[in-house]
Amino acid sequence: MKKSKYLYKVLVCPKCKEELRFVKRENKKFLFCEKDKIYYPIERVEYSNDKKKIFVEIPILCEKREIAFHHVKLLKIEKSKLPTSKKMFYNILSKKVSRLPSGSIIIDNGCGTNIFEKFIDRDIISFDLKIQDAYLPIDFIADSMLLPIRNNSVDCYVSNFLMEYMDQPDLYIGEMYRTLKKMGRAYISFFTPYSYFAYFLSIGTYYNYLKKVIKEPISFLSNPIRHLLQRFVRGTNYKTIIEEIKNWKLSFFEDVFRKTGFKVTGKEFIGNIFSLDWIYNPLSSKFSNYGKRGVICLYTLEK
Ligand SMILES: C[S@@+](CC[C@H](N)C(=O)[O-])C[C@H]1O[C@@H](n2cnc3c(N)ncnc32)[C@H](O)[C@@H]1O
Ligand SMILES: [Zn+2]
Repeated sequence: MKKSKYLYKVLVCPKCKEELRFVKRENKKFLFCEKDKIYYPIERVEYSNDKKKIFVEIPILCEKREIAFHHVKLLKIEKSKLPTSKKMFYNILSKKVSRLPSGSIIIDNGCGTNIFEKFIDRDIISFDLKIQDAYLPIDFIADSMLLPIRNNSVDCYVSNFLMEYMDQPDLYIGEMYRTLKKMGRAYISFFTPYSYFAYFLSIGTYYNYLKKVIKEPISFLSNPIRHLLQRFVRGTNYKTIIEEIKNWKLSFFEDVFRKTGFKVTGKEFIGNIFSLDWIYNPLSSKFSNYGKRGVICLYTLEK
């Protein structure tokens, strides 16, 4: 089955979860929800690099959409410049996902640059809140906290490095629970608290943080500690420092998984303290990359 066929099989109105239908108005295409009378636009987006252009039609299935530009670049992966931790992580995850039966509906929730699809030889439906330069075109725009996806329709989710940014992680996890088939799986990953130490070893960190201080002088001056905690690595928007510190603990995330209804069936740590920056790749390969203090944590959840 073609990817777009099964994409349109799973999409529904994010608000009422009812069917959507294709309509054309003034030569523009939409997905229309009869009940809410909402027209969700289908935008034509051009991905290009020097050699080729790809045009794709992307349904925009959320309200707080963030579409900065319509001409986006197709990136090329420079594997040598990927940090060891990321390379290892995407390889491990791609092995797991490859074992799913063919025809399985697999969704990358918050795909970003769509890098995971580059690591796997399978059709992955991918979406994000925004369109950005990417390794492969993405399939639709949506908010992870209000998925435009049918109940019990998805075989597998992968969702990498989102949870730590979510204002309401229970909504984000809950939406995956709602839309997965029974026994369906979600692979959820995020940087561990240990990665804070690794970030301090990275050269890019200091440069990036300086840029943030210059960009947000008021927030920095009013509470430098909070500014550092919230914006440095994880970028969350928790209201108090206590909440922010609670979210460092893995048990905070595990509670969310369990409260949502998921069974936690696996937990792995990937990458050592030197593995976050490609500059240290030769050094990183000299150390063990598995253990309790990896920089990336990968959870396997089952509905
Ligand atoms: C750190 S990036 C990770 C991207 C990708 N999963 C990867 O492995 O590189 C986090 C991504 O989450 C997206 N994001 C943040 N909040 C979101 C939301 N509510 N719904 C969908 N995507 C969201 C951002 O746009 C960004 O692309
Ligand atoms: Zn609706």
